[in-house]
Formats: sequence, C-alpha cells, structure tokens
Amino acid sequence: MEIRRPKISILGAGMTGSTTAHWCAAKELGDVVLFDIVEGMPQGKALDLFEAGPIEGFDVAVRGTNDLRDTAGSDLVIITAGMPRKPGMSRADLLSANYRIVKDLVLQSLEVSPDAFFIVLTNPVDVLTYVVKKVSGLPRHRVMGQAGVLDSTRYRTFLAEAIGVSVKDVHAMVLGGHGDAMVPLVPYANVNGIPITHFLSKERIDAIVERTRKGGGEIVNLLKTGSAYYAPGAALAEMAEAILKDRKRVLAVTTYLEGEYGLRDLCVGVPVVLGGGGIERVIELELSEEDRRALQVSVDEVRAQIAELPETL
Ligand code: 2OP
Repeated sequence: MEIRRPKISILGAGMTGSTTAHWCAAKELGDVVLFDIVEGMPQGKALDLFEAGPIEGFDVAVRGTNDLRDTAGSDLVIITAGMPRKPGMSRADLLSANYRIVKDLVLQSLEVSPDAFFIVLTNPVDVLTYVVKKVSGLPRHRVMGQAGVLDSTRYRTFLAEAIGVSVKDVHAMVLGGHGDAMVPLVPYANVNGIPITHFLSKERIDAIVERTRKGGGEIVNLLKTGSAYYAPGAALAEMAEAILKDRKRVLAVTTYLEGEYGLRDLCVGVPVVLGGGGIERVIELELSEEDRRALQVSVDEVRAQIAELPETL
C-alpha cells in the first residue's frame, strides 16, 4: 500500500491564492499546486514558499504552473482566480468579469480532477459557487464557497477585542450572502457558552454587527489597490483542513440549498458539518424574526445577481 499526501490545487496565484498556499503549506495539509496564467509568477511564488520548508519544518511539495494539467488528480481545488474589488466597487460589479474565468476553470479542472472537492472564493462568491455547482453537475456536498468562515472570523475578532477576551473563546457565525446584507447572528454568539449580551450593550453589538457586514469594504478602502487576503486565505485553509483531515467542523459555508431554510436553487452561507465527505450535513437553526428577515434581504440580493448571469444555467 502506498500512502500519499493529499493534493491541493489553488487556481489563481494572486494575493489570496498565494496566501492560501502559505497557510496550507504551514499547516502541512498536503502538496500544493499553484496555478495562474501569468508566466513565471506562480512558479516563482511556489518556489519561494517551498524554500521556506526547512525553516518552518513542513514536508510538503509546493509547485507553480501555467498548465492546468499539472493539477491532475487533485483532492481539493480552490478557485481564487479573477478580479478583486477596487474602492467604490461592490462584489456584484465583478460578476461578468469573473463568470467566464470561473466557468472555464471548473470545466477544465473536472477533466483532470474528476474526484475533487471544489471551494470557490472568487467574488461575487455566492453566485459563482452557484455557477460551479450548475456547470459541473456535481452533487452539492462537493461544491462550496468560502465566505462565512471569513465573515465569522471578522465578527469574532471584533467581539473578542471589544469584550477583552481571547479570540479562542469567542464563537460566532455569520450566515447569508457575502454582501453588506450578510447576517451576523447575535443570539448564538457566545464566549465559551456565555451569551455576548452578558458583556456588551445592544449599541456595541449593533456597531460590531455593522462593522462585520462592511468588513471586506473596510479593507478595500484602506488598501485602495485590491482586497483582503490574509483572513480570506486563512479561512480557505480552515475549510481545506476540515475536509482533508475529516474534522467534521461546524462552519458557515456557502452551500447549494435544497429546501433548507425554505430556500432552494441558490447558494448562500449556512452552518454545515464540513468533513471528509465535504458538506456532510446542513444545520437548520431556529432564527429570530429579525434574523429571518435579514436573511431574506440577503437572499434576495443573491437571487438578483443570479438573474444577471450572462447565461441561464
Ligand atoms: C472580503 O470580504 C475578499 O470578499 C472578500 O474581503
């Protein structure tokens, strides 16, 4: 019997793709292939990261390529390719530019990695996850988007800072689409089981919820030339770890819904069990009236974007 490391292919070697490669290698999740169409760039970044192995002690191969065939046999394909947001742009503004890129990449990847799980990060992530689900024809447990893990880590960061406790003790989730109408859940947010309302006033919580919703835009406005990549990369690596190590993590994941939450035929963030079988289970939470209404607003935004797709899927 031969035991081999998992193979993770990251499509798009820009800031998020290469940062994701960094987190995946540092966690020794598997061999990493970094793909991009820019000649030399993925090779250079991959070699540079590979050469950090002896210092950091990770025994994984990291390889860059301009040839998608080098991703063959992947266990996990992560799609980060596409244009990032610039100040003044919404994630939805990226739709037409990124639609074709993501569609072509998933079809080509499937030919060489027929058994892979797919995680989409490219924005607008809810609708592009839907595109990958539809054009691939894969069952929903193998196709997912990353948004909720990122939005939740932002929410947890702001809560931990405001309460003055370790980030490790703050548990909180953000549901819905990855737009400014996303739904940071307050009733379920807690510090090792203690509701956040024990520590923070309604005004403070409202301000944190609002900052979380605009968290991506806050970074875009500071950077001016692109969008966030450290936390998005870490979020992707956390999802990769959940799958490749069969952790059965409970995470907010952009998921194709088949009737859960009264919704079907669209992708939005909901809590799922993420493990070796991909999306193993969707967890249907009881939502407060306020959160239910907020989720509906977010879902309506995602549906409006689906309606703007250049092709009917
Ligand atoms: C963000 O929220 C890139 O959409 C991503 O930062």
